[in-house]
Amino acid sequence: MRGREPVLHKSSWQRLERTQKYVPSSDCFGPAPPHKLFNRPQSGTCQWGRKLHKVRAITEADIPGFWETLDAVARESSFLRSAEAPPFAAVQDFVLGNIEARNPQFVALADGQVVGWCDIVRSTATHERHCGELGMGVRSDWRGRGLGRSLLEATLAEADARGVLRVELSVHSDNPRAIALYIRNGFIEEGRKLGARIKGNAVLDVLLMARLRPDEHWPLIGGA
Ligand SMILES: CC(C)(COP(=O)(O)OP(=O)(O)OC[C@H]1O[C@@H](n2cnc3c(N)ncnc32)[C@H](O)[C@@H]1OP(=O)(O)O)[C@@H](O)C(=O)NCCC(=O)NCCS
Repeated sequence: MRGREPVLHKSSWQRLERTQKYVPSSDCFGPAPPHKLFNRPQSGTCQWGRKLHKVRAITEADIPGFWETLDAVARESSFLRSAEAPPFAAVQDFVLGNIEARNPQFVALADGQVVGWCDIVRSTATHERHCGELGMGVRSDWRGRGLGRSLLEATLAEADARGVLRVELSVHSDNPRAIALYIRNGFIEEGRKLGARIKGNAVLDVLLMARLRPDEHWPLIGGA
């Protein structure tokens, strides 16, 4: 999937951070000219001319790449409910349904290939239309480089703009990277399903997390 190796790895960033007070960008990888070090890119595309990845709304043309990426992440058998993606036709229906319903769904592209996704599917139940369920993943060889953060920020911003007041998700208790990412983006743990997953010999809890849109525009609801 990946055509070229990033030149500056995360450990290198951290060394730079310690020695030069370098502010790492979540969006770009590769050696930056020194005078640009303190400018954070405004979009998911590299500001230094090396377009290593970008984050944008999914299109119909991205469906095969999304399906392959979903399948690759599922086959790691660590993070998702299933150990493989649903059949292509089901994934196609899912994406086309999201596009039609204007549910936020973004993909991360690297060298023109889909390497990650994030979606929030709004509930269609009468009393839950303000709620959406979030799912996301990044191919293993592209993790730890800011794509997850870019995807999550873009998808949450779109959900906020579309009036999704409450975003929910569930995450395995042995997934500290995802949990930390969610907490940093306003999610809190609301509950825990004990022993809800068994992976090999390991019995895991599932954390139930949610984020309420951070503003005062919630509808006023009469007391129960
Ligand atoms: C969770 C996931 C989407 C995050 O994507 P990513 O591209 O690796 O995320 P990022 O590189 O943007 O890093 C996100 C944050 O996690 C931090 N992080 C990285 N590794 C970490 C670790 N082992 N523990 C805790 N935090 C970690 C990063 O420092 C970063 O923090 P920052 O936003 O303050 O800079 C990705 O790891 C993934 O696909 N995992 C497998 C599938 C999965 O777990 N999906 C979610 C199921 S609920």
